[in-house]
Amino acid sequence: MAKDASFHFGPSGNTSEPVEFTFEYYLDHRARIDAESIFAYHEEYGRTYHAYRSGSYHIPNDQNEVERLDAQYEITKIFLDDRLYLSPLSEPRKIIDIATGTGRWAMEMADKFPHAQVIGTDLSPIQPVLVPPNLQFEIDDGNDEWQQGDDWYDVDYIHFLSTVAAWSDWQRIIRTAFTRLRPGGWLEMQEPECDIASDDAPIPSDNAFRQWFFDLTEASARAHRPIDVIPHLKQMFIDAGFVDVHEKVLKIPINGWPRGRRLKKIGKMWQQCLLDGLPGFSYALFNRWLGVSTDQIEISLVHVRKAMADKRTRAYQRFYVVYGRKPERV
Ligand SMILES: C[S@@+](CC[C@H](N)C(=O)[O-])C[C@H]1O[C@@H](n2cnc3c(N)ncnc32)[C@H](O)[C@@H]1O
Repeated sequence: MAKDASFHFGPSGNTSEPVEFTFEYYLDHRARIDAESIFAYHEEYGRTYHAYRSGSYHIPNDQNEVERLDAQYEITKIFLDDRLYLSPLSEPRKIIDIATGTGRWAMEMADKFPHAQVIGTDLSPIQPVLVPPNLQFEIDDGNDEWQQGDDWYDVDYIHFLSTVAAWSDWQRIIRTAFTRLRPGGWLEMQEPECDIASDDAPIPSDNAFRQWFFDLTEASARAHRPIDVIPHLKQMFIDAGFVDVHEKVLKIPINGWPRGRRLKKIGKMWQQCLLDGLPGFSYALFNRWLGVSTDQIEISLVHVRKAMADKRTRAYQRFYVVYGRKPERV
């Protein structure tokens, strides 16, 4: 049977016509049932959360989050100097973006490589309907067994961007990507570290923003979504068998403290993005997994916002870009 975990966007046939009940009809029918259920969002804390595999991911998927994701993507592009990837790609034919979100990256890749087939997957159907012809979005759970089919094997490039809160077992995800790449294919992960630092002096652990990251890390661990793995990705790539593994660490200022115009702009944009994200990042994780009430969460966020706005700490978040190649001979 077709994997009922996925729904391929696109026409599913005219259902008002009398139909012969064939196996193909059954599969199409199942796809439509899935299509309806993936939009039956869970509502809590005044937000909506994904319906497919409900409860797997603790960050909302509503309009606020969609706009925040688009803004976050724009900032990422600025600090990556408009590069969509750092791997040395040459004319990739098959590209997969796991946990594509609003699909902005996938759309730009599909435009950049019109001869490639690009797939973007996510738990939430928050991607646009009008997309380049060589791009397909699919609802799929990356923690589950990945899809079958030609598009999912011998892949040239697999990409993850800002998926830090999504995975139960990072090493397994990286190993799975390894098996799906063609020899010579590249895996790239672009992920923020869930902590802050400063080059001036260590940031005290009672700094409210740092404490918020500690709480987020604890809640995520309890939710089986470890977020403290990002500095270890490079080693995980090597352990999975990747070669030519590179790690580039960028520093994103958490507010407009830098003097230079470019970094000041990035810092201000990042601060706004963090401010927009704070309630959504906190509610489900802190309430469900740390037992903190929403009122208590709101009160603590007052202090987090103040600490985040403090320019004296000259704090930044590290952003890791790790990429590696599957060897020609395995
Ligand atoms: C912070 S967003 C990043 C989205 C996109 N990569 C970007 O940078 O704009 C994380 C995404 O991971 C998706 N996600 C979470 N858990 C997932 C899972 N198990 N399988 C597939 N996608 C998942 C969420 O629905 C969300 O869209």
